[in-house]
Amino acid sequence: MSAQWNKTMALALMLAALLPLCFVPCSAELQRFEQDAKADGSLSFLVVGDWGRRGLYNQTKVAHQMGIIGDKLDIDFTISTGDNFYDNGLTGVDDAAFFESFVKIYTAPSLQKPWYTVSVLGNHDYRGDVEAQLSPILREIDSRWICLRSFIVNAEIAEIFFVDTTPFVKKYFAEPEDHTYDWNGIRPRKQYLSNLLQDLDSALRRSTAKWKIVVGHHTIKSAGHHGNTHELALQLLPILQANDVDLYINGHDHCLEQISSTDSGIEFLTSGGGSKAWRGDVGWWNPKEMKFYYDGQGFMSVQITPTQIDIIFYDIFGNVLHKWSTSKQLYSTI
Ligand SMILES: *[C@@H]1O[C@H](CO)[C@@H](O)[C@H](O)[C@H]1NC(C)=O
Repeated sequence: MSAQWNKTMALALMLAALLPLCFVPCSAELQRFEQDAKADGSLSFLVVGDWGRRGLYNQTKVAHQMGIIGDKLDIDFTISTGDNFYDNGLTGVDDAAFFESFVKIYTAPSLQKPWYTVSVLGNHDYRGDVEAQLSPILREIDSRWICLRSFIVNAEIAEIFFVDTTPFVKKYFAEPEDHTYDWNGIRPRKQYLSNLLQDLDSALRRSTAKWKIVVGHHTIKSAGHHGNTHELALQLLPILQANDVDLYINGHDHCLEQISSTDSGIEFLTSGGGSKAWRGDVGWWNPKEMKFYYDGQGFMSVQITPTQIDIIFYDIFGNVLHKWSTSKQLYSTI
């Protein structure tokens, strides 16, 4: 037998041994979208969450102010932190809620840019037909709609990592109560979560962007109605800390909130005031960390330059409720 044949045989055996590994869902690279920054390298966008209620609960007013601020800041895109359609997501790609809660609500010219509508599909969205919100058919109906489970937006100075947080939450599986969740594509859950965390970790590690932002639907830290999400604090947070993430942005609690972490450099920002709010049940939080809490409706803007991030929260009248900035030197500090 020739040495060549031996080599081929060895390779074939090796491949045969590896093959079965790929019958369980393999981890893979997260899908990437390239987002242009402005000519001067800066970037601006709005963040809104927990919104789709056919205009009710001040949704229309929030949308109107988003249009005005979006124009003023010349935004490049909008981020939705999930819970896109109440009460139970979409029933299918032909569900009128897509028009009544999205297309016909965010009509301002400045908002006709991509909506990175996370498959930070919120827990409410998971109760409907998840595949419908993920379907490319919706993008044919409204080209702004970019909705996946987990993905990355590369915007040059900033890289934004969208994480599907709903499957982390044990109680949706253990005690669904009278809700039906659509877990298609999520099982086996443990495998799904470990692949996702691994993909996120390696993408964050490889990132050379000046600013790293992670977006999820669920809170990691919050004084609002739902409070902290323990599963995320245990499983996701260590990865964000290890990779020097600058911001974690979420919805889920129907409020506007900023918590500065004393044990890491991460800022925790909640923008979940897209429609129904005013729960009135704010918990206690260490005032050293709690930079801002507003129980009502509104949204957030983010402006990014190579050296600075500016965050602003607005109410339904467009009033500035809270501002926060952070800066980094131009040169890298390796
Ligand atoms: C709409 O916003 C106003 C002003 O913040 C508030 O007083 C009112 O309660 C809100 N309406 C609803 C239904 O939340």
